[in-house]
Amino acid sequence: MIRKIGILCSGGDSPGMNAAIRAVTRIALISGIEVVGIKDGYKGLLGQKFITYDRSSVSEILSQGGTKLGSARLPEFKNEETQLEAVRILNENKIDGLVVIGGDGSYRGAAALSKQGIACIALPGTIDNDIAGTDYTIGFDTALHTVVDCIDKLRDTSSSHHRCSVVEVMGNRCGDLAIYAGICCGAEVVVTPETGYNEEEILDKLHYLENSGKNHAIVIVSEKITDVFALADKINKYTDFAGRATVLGHIQRGGSPTPFDRFLASRMGEKAIDLLIEGVSGHCVGIIDNEITSMPISEALQKAKKPRRHLYKLFERLV
Ligand code: ADP
Ligand code: F6P
Repeated sequence: MIRKIGILCSGGDSPGMNAAIRAVTRIALISGIEVVGIKDGYKGLLGQKFITYDRSSVSEILSQGGTKLGSARLPEFKNEETQLEAVRILNENKIDGLVVIGGDGSYRGAAALSKQGIACIALPGTIDNDIAGTDYTIGFDTALHTVVDCIDKLRDTSSSHHRCSVVEVMGNRCGDLAIYAGICCGAEVVVTPETGYNEEEILDKLHYLENSGKNHAIVIVSEKITDVFALADKINKYTDFAGRATVLGHIQRGGSPTPFDRFLASRMGEKAIDLLIEGVSGHCVGIIDNEITSMPISEALQKAKKPRRHLYKLFERLV
């Protein structure tokens, strides 16, 4: 039986993590489980940065971006001896369950602790939407809203100046933010790990658009694929558009979570506690076809993400 749980956020933060912390805390407390907030991810766990949570510890955070608990990266957590030290600390503090909110790296840490006997449940907290065991991660929708808002603004000014805006968005090798934004903003070109990078093709498409009378264009590029400033220079040189590059950067990680993310985080937080009470460990929570589900973390990490071919097809048909 679980008597006391810890909750931590790890990896890059995402809007909605606070809503998840709130749901986990309140539902655990009304289920008779004590809650300890662990500051700064696995790093704070090893440093024993523990705070006893009551109901009011999580008041007024539902609408706040970021994470009240702080997040961190600790590369040494990949080492078994560091994991065993974490287990020792958790046992010493009589913490028998852990809810980890983070991306796939954080999932690996939770799976390792679960193998060492700590009951762990992971929630997908990342703007990248790059986790296979769920249709949506907590924070993706808010980040998408931010990206769409920024690109709408860029389109206003691009169209006044016969410019092509090249916009780099985050995603950490997952193209979801880029392709969803491409469809929502009516971009002319989207470049992601799924499409690959073909400069000639991009320039040809821009020529074609110019010839068909377009006076501005938006090219969305997923991060870690190419230098968007160099691409904007090429566009300047080889097309009649003036190329301008914008890297949206960490602005995509901030902001008040959308209702979708608050709702998702609250449902997932509830599921985490239900699973711990049922005696499940080493699972991650997801939403699949609008049902809150769970599967072993190892399975989610091995699984390939659902193909997005239909989204790329839709995008091409709308340009
Ligand atoms: P995210 O969780 O957003 O994917 P990272 O990949 O940076 O972010 O991982 C966050 C943290 O999770 C790392 O700093 C480390 O503490 C832990 N972690 C990552 N990979 C592993 C692993 N293979 N084993 C154990 N812990 C890991
Ligand atoms: O995983 C979230 C994310 O924002 C990625 O999109 C991005 O590649 C990375 O984190 C940036 O990390 P950092 O905050 O360390 O610069």
